[in-house]
Amino acid sequence: MPAELPSRDDLRLVRRTLEELPGVAEAEVLLIADGTRAAMSALVSDGHPPPEPSDAAPPATRLGGAKTHVVPGCLAAMDRAAVLAIAHALHSAGLFRDGRPHRAEEAAAGLGAAPRHRWIVRRWLAALASADLPGPPTRQELARAMRDLDAARQELGYPAEMGRFFQTALRSLPRLVRDEISLQSLLFTGGGMTTAQGNYRDNLISRHLNKAAAGAVAAHLPTRVLEIGAGVGATTDVVLDAMGKVDYLFTDVSAFFLDAARERFARRPGLRYALLDVNAPMELDEQPFDVVLAANVLHNARHAGRTLAAIRRLLSPGGTLVLIESCVEHHLVSASMHFLMSPRADALLTGFADVRQGQDRVFLGRTEWIRQLAAAGYRDVRVEPAPDDPLAAAGQYVFTAVRGDHHPDPAPLLSKAAEALPPHLVPREVHTVDALITDRSFRS
Ligand SMILES: C[S@@+](CC[C@H](N)C(=O)[O-])C[C@H]1O[C@@H](n2cnc3c(N)ncnc32)[C@H](O)[C@@H]1O
Repeated sequence: MPAELPSRDDLRLVRRTLEELPGVAEAEVLLIADGTRAAMSALVSDGHPPPEPSDAAPPATRLGGAKTHVVPGCLAAMDRAAVLAIAHALHSAGLFRDGRPHRAEEAAAGLGAAPRHRWIVRRWLAALASADLPGPPTRQELARAMRDLDAARQELGYPAEMGRFFQTALRSLPRLVRDEISLQSLLFTGGGMTTAQGNYRDNLISRHLNKAAAGAVAAHLPTRVLEIGAGVGATTDVVLDAMGKVDYLFTDVSAFFLDAARERFARRPGLRYALLDVNAPMELDEQPFDVVLAANVLHNARHAGRTLAAIRRLLSPGGTLVLIESCVEHHLVSASMHFLMSPRADALLTGFADVRQGQDRVFLGRTEWIRQLAAAGYRDVRVEPAPDDPLAAAGQYVFTAVRGDHHPDPAPLLSKAAEALPPHLVPREVHTVDALITDRSFRS
């Protein structure tokens, strides 16, 4: 055994220092002992130097056309209904009655929140703080806000089922947070998909985003497409309509969605189906894909950067990744869809391991996605809609990015590491590799 080994913290410091260097997506440090001495070597997987956010995404075209000017006002009305429903739920649980502030644990205990949903209660308190209400809403105020929500829902073209879903969810907040009912039972009433399709397809915002995503996929004239987290197939529909003959692998983490899609797309030629989890090693016995599409799913990745790097390896050289992602948390989402993001009651491993770690947030921001894409080895990142487009009020974006084929040069990495680390912790050598599969890549 060598006389003096670096500590675990030392190794972590070296790894973190390497991972912060431009062009490095992930690093691992190896300690190689030869009896009396221990030498450190590092492996880094490739990525591109993150560009500055200002020049990372070229100006995007306007996605919207007629009617998109109603988006900001409608979303504000929907968020107001959500925040009043949250205030009502907390007040009905006996909280905020004496004007005294409450800590999140007190609020969660008062509501009888299931441990897995306590993070949502913390989001609700943040929502209330930002809304700065004068007090709990009266019955009349709440009823008016619900009517405004439904009017906004109609204006945005969501089907009536979505109106019922939003209102039932907002009226059921105490039961949802106590796990007495599940959001899935409200969203997939009787096993049907109409409500969920309303959320991801049949509304003004999704129509524009799906159309932009379909345009981005079809523009590459792909012959092989992989869709990740395809779910109810809301984006799939539009993408398939925009393409000719294609080999299309429809995947999801849940067999429930694959079974439904097999039935739904039975008449479409070229579709195949497979289970795929973005939080497990994404090993598909497949040739590389020309396009990978991931609509409203990648925020489920425990570590967005690692998942993006894994997806990059599924793309052919010059292949394109098309993402749809929410980058802003609306109060209505905190009071509805977020229930789908709570860990299972029996989960051992919870939370995110990337920039969202320890923050109770689900979504990465627009600039964070641009940076993650660049760091994971993508180039030519484009984002739609443009910030001044009324559709941007939704905070949902279509990102397209091309697989880069750049490997960082180990020599400058080593000298940069030497500048940042104490001399005894500078690795003897750095190797760049295409992928690192370590224990951190696996779920426990
Ligand atoms: C919000 S839905 C979006 C569905 C679809 N892409 C759309 O826009 O219509 C998210 C989908 O991601 C799937 N999903 C959740 N976690 C996942 C994971 N770890 N790996 C792959 N898919 C996942 C869910 O089963 C669900 O179908």
